[in-house]
Amino acid sequence: MHKYKILKNKIEKKLNLLSYRRKSNYFGRANSAIWCIGEFLKKNSNKQTIILPSTMCASPAIIFKVLGFKLEFVDVNKSNGLLNVEKVIKKINKKNNDIVCIFYVNLFGNKDLEARKLRNINNIFIIQDLAQTFMSKENVKSDIFGDLVILSFGYSKIFDLDHGGIVLSNNDKFYNFGLKFDEKIKNTTVSTIGKKKYLKWYDDVIINNKKNNLKNLKSFASKIYLIKFDNKKLTQINKSINLLSKEFKRRILLLKLYKKRIKKLKLNIMHSKNTFIPWRFTFLINNKDYYLNLIRKKGNDVSSYYPNIGRAFSNKKNKNSYANSDLIQEKVINFWLTKEYNRNKINNICNLLNEK
Ligand SMILES: Cc1ncc(COP(=O)(O)O)c(C=O)c1O
Repeated sequence: MHKYKILKNKIEKKLNLLSYRRKSNYFGRANSAIWCIGEFLKKNSNKQTIILPSTMCASPAIIFKVLGFKLEFVDVNKSNGLLNVEKVIKKINKKNNDIVCIFYVNLFGNKDLEARKLRNINNIFIIQDLAQTFMSKENVKSDIFGDLVILSFGYSKIFDLDHGGIVLSNNDKFYNFGLKFDEKIKNTTVSTIGKKKYLKWYDDVIINNKKNNLKNLKSFASKIYLIKFDNKKLTQINKSINLLSKEFKRRILLLKLYKKRIKKLKLNIMHSKNTFIPWRFTFLINNKDYYLNLIRKKGNDVSSYYPNIGRAFSNKKNKNSYANSDLIQEKVINFWLTKEYNRNKINNICNLLNEK
């Protein structure tokens, strides 16, 4: 057997044990996987509406919009950043006839017992996007509830190989569709012009609240999101999966250290006890710019990212429609848990915050 086929079988077996999903499809990016899922849904359903959380990264929303879906955003919980399941169910009861899927994003690694309730709803696909986190052998069967489960090995993710997305499923029809989809893609890297256009769009629409328009999205989406899977990445993907448990323990340890060291500050920590592999240590704090400045002026890196995508895409003026996403956008700070961060570095950062 060809060595890539052998590696794929090995990876599939390991992921099957962790996710209870038999099949793995490979794509150049998680965003290519999302594009494929969108086309699959179009082909197999007449329904047009997708439910998404108002706090998430912009790209899945861009892809679904370009493919012609109607996007219905639902606010997230303030405590864990996950879709508010009660609100999702209310929306489904109102609009049941047109909802094709729920795009369930997990940004902070938190598990959600409530989300399993969504599984009992007939004829609505659940896409469980774990691109910013990762399951490990520490999770249990019911933690994985998506019909399709998305993983990413892209830039800055838990295992940053700067390439690769996987969809796990028990769906043979999707598996075959996914194989053909990746085969047809030509581009192997993200286009520079496409990236420039995306950054300009991000600055205009997300940062400066300018009007979102479909023509703009179409001018860059396929250039940056449709990337062919490179089989040469399989060795590293296989190695990463062997390291899942180790990485889970390392990140949880650092996350706990941050938590302990800044416990005197008044803040809302976005992590529950029950978690997949956490991507960053995230919390909400009043006067965030003051704290960002404290950390950055000593040369440390910190992120203040999590925009309210719901507002950018639905142009809803109603102040209360995504109140928690507004709050997250205004108050969120993320600290890194990457390899460069050890006890010493984290202690130094936390000292800066505590000095105040
Ligand atoms: C929730 C979510 N889904 C998908 C993606 C896309 O991942 P990739 O860079 O592999 O395309 C991202 C990227 O940041 C993300 O945050």
